[in-house]
Amino acid sequence: MEKSFQENNLSGLGMGTWGIGEAIKGYDRSQIFLISKFYPYHASPELERQSLENSLKRLGTDYLDLYLLHWRGDKRLSETVRGLKELQKEGLIRHWGVSNFDVADLEELFSVPGGKDCFANEDLYNLSERGVEYDVLPWQEKHGVSFIGYSPFNSGKGDSIRITNNLKIVARAHNVTPHQIMLAWTMRNGNVLSIPKAGTVKHMKENIAAQNIKLTSDEIKLIDNDFPQPTEKTPLAMI
Ligand SMILES: NC(=O)c1ccc[n+]([C@@H]2O[C@H](COP(=O)([O-])OP(=O)(O)OC[C@H]3O[C@@H](n4cnc5c(N)ncnc54)[C@H](OP(=O)(O)O)[C@@H]3O)[C@@H](O)[C@H]2O)c1
Repeated sequence: MEKSFQENNLSGLGMGTWGIGEAIKGYDRSQIFLISKFYPYHASPELERQSLENSLKRLGTDYLDLYLLHWRGDKRLSETVRGLKELQKEGLIRHWGVSNFDVADLEELFSVPGGKDCFANEDLYNLSERGVEYDVLPWQEKHGVSFIGYSPFNSGKGDSIRITNNLKIVARAHNVTPHQIMLAWTMRNGNVLSIPKAGTVKHMKENIAAQNIKLTSDEIKLIDNDFPQPTEKTPLAMI
């Protein structure tokens, strides 16, 4: 019998690809959005194909929903995109995208044949790292490229983002934890897909519930007092 993936959501549990393959067995594949990345030194048509085939084998599936270049390397973007378009044409990937790209990288990507078909860019985004709000997010919105924000808790063991009094006040008002507020904050405008990693079912449940927290404009202002918006261009932050 087919299991409901929503009832048993295992995404983002931080498992390796073998573990994910095990976890999704028996679920309706069409209800799962599977993303994987490839390294810049594999960003040529032949190596992209090889990396993808290996990932698909480990995942026990025959296609990915999104395949991302992990960060900018020294391979020509025109070749990277050519390879990705071939994989897409063959139905091995539904979409392709990039990660850790700044505006200049995205502009260069858009200048190569097929580059405008980039589906998503995945960059670091959390309360402590708001730099992308200055230019990357507006650029992506304008050009129709989805934004995936990684490490909403700044990758730490719970305290890598300062838990301020204002965060506690907002959390109390919603009867949730400050971490749930941090996560809800990244998604407050509906233009960011945030991807937390959780190693426990408790954290996973809290993170799923955070999708339903609606922050008021006063609460957003309170949070801004502790974690100010960027007012100038800063180098793209990465982990
Ligand atoms: N594209 C890139 O270059 C790039 C780079 C880095 C990361 N990523 C991706 O970003 C995702 C997140 O990665 P991450 O591990 O760096 O960062 P993260 O999600 O910011 O932080 C994970 C940490 O937060 C804790 N946590 C999770 N949910 C929590 C909750 N509800 N309350 C309190 N603590 C909670 C986890 O603890 P427990 O483990 O105990 O739950 C873990 O210590 C992953 O999918 C990763 O692949 C992408």
